[in-house]
Amino acid sequence: MILVLIGYMASGKSTIGNKLAKKLNYKFIDLDDYIKKKENLSVADIFKSKGEIYFRKQESHYLNELLQTKGNMILSVGGGTPCYSNNMELILQSRFVRSIYLKASISTLVKNLTKNKNERPLIAHLKTDESLTEFIGKHLFERISYYSQAEIQIITDAKSKKEIVEEIVLNLF
Ligand code: S3P
Repeated sequence: MILVLIGYMASGKSTIGNKLAKKLNYKFIDLDDYIKKKENLSVADIFKSKGEIYFRKQESHYLNELLQTKGNMILSVGGGTPCYSNNMELILQSRFVRSIYLKASISTLVKNLTKNKNERPLIAHLKTDESLTEFIGKHLFERISYYSQAEIQIITDAKSKKEIVEEIVLNLF
């Protein structure tokens, strides 16, 4: 079984994914880290030197590869992964794959992203809280139709990591 965690940047996919993997005794893979290893470049450097279109092509390629893996795994994907190519369709249609959307409000995302936006090429240029809020609002609006197709949706605002993990497990089994 592969459990795919989707959601906007800084919605907690990697942190929750790690904890969930420990709880269920599943392997944990973060798609951005996997791309980094395979390409020998950070995501920011791929964007800079090869461009976003190249990144999206490789992202889709490695997602395909990982979704064919046998065994139990939590796969946390990038915020844009479900929104490009036929990635969301693939996640939804693959056998033994279930999808979970970690749904965070704009204010939670702004709070989380303010702390570490520099390694994220799509938002690193946004200097103020206002510009970040405006960008996330519009961006989330464009992406929500993809995220909302996930089988399980968990509202994460004001919940502890432990509560989120427990809610996911309750919804899964
Ligand atoms: C992106 C999200 C990032 C990373 C890349 C693009 C996006 O992943 O894949 O910077 O389009 O939202 P995280 O969601 O893990 O930050």
